Amino acid sequence: MIELSEEQKKAVADAQATFTELKDSSKPLNDEQLNLLFGQARSMNGWQDKEVSDDMVKSIYELTKMGPTSTNCCPARFKFIKSDDQKQLLKEALLPNNVDKVMSAPVIAIIGYDLDFSDNMGKLFPHMDIAPMYKGNAEFNQATAFRNSSLQGAYFMMVSRAHGLDCGPMSGFNNELVDSTFFEGTNIKSNFLCCIGYGDPSKIFMRLPRLDFDEVCEIL
Ligand SMILES: Cc1cc2nc3c(=O)[nH]c(=O)nc-3n(C[C@H](O)[C@H](O)[C@H](O)COP(=O)(O)O)c2cc1C
Repeated sequence: MIELSEEQKKAVADAQATFTELKDSSKPLNDEQLNLLFGQARSMNGWQDKEVSDDMVKSIYELTKMGPTSTNCCPARFKFIKSDDQKQLLKEALLPNNVDKVMSAPVIAIIGYDLDFSDNMGKLFPHMDIAPMYKGNAEFNQATAFRNSSLQGAYFMMVSRAHGLDCGPMSGFNNELVDSTFFEGTNIKSNFLCCIGYGDPSKIFMRLPRLDFDEVCEIL
């Protein structure tokens, strides 16, 4: 049983009231909004020549960070590449097929995971001393960092779409080279890249099929 301080008990009550008010005063997303996020949204292969401001990038992070992670561990680390010189460094690590798609994007997010994420658990999970659980088990630590940074990368894509932007996720690059170029001297490893911006519809590929419910789902 976790013993909460009076201050923490008040924080729990406040959170419950805020959530109740939200659910009482809001509706689920409508079809158009669902299409923008999922149903008709597409992965981008080219970009309009239209800037994405730093303020927009910051707004996207502010919602991305609210997505759930296990024990609130928040292992994702983001580098947002906008400048030409940093794009040139990234170019060296890209598979040839991906070079034009990435280099024409206004912003490229390098989504990484910090294997030292548990150093922040005192802030992120203050009611329990959970860091030793990660520090003492390298395999569990790695799996947790990778799993949750992948989720945070997905939240990042959905928040970007919710802000009216498009996404071009990429794993076709040399992770070791990206790590040594952008994360040297840290315990951060690259997970995947995600270009964001205003997509060029003329570069969209045909829609590929998805697996049907009955092929991959079971309700037990
Ligand atoms: C993690 C991840 C890595 C991807 N890597 C690449 C890549 O290296 N090159 C590429 O052209 N597309 C890449 N894609 C794009 C996928 O091929 C695309 O999302 C998928 O075919 C679905 O396309 P749609 O969203 O337009 O339906 C990647 C997507 C994800 C989510």
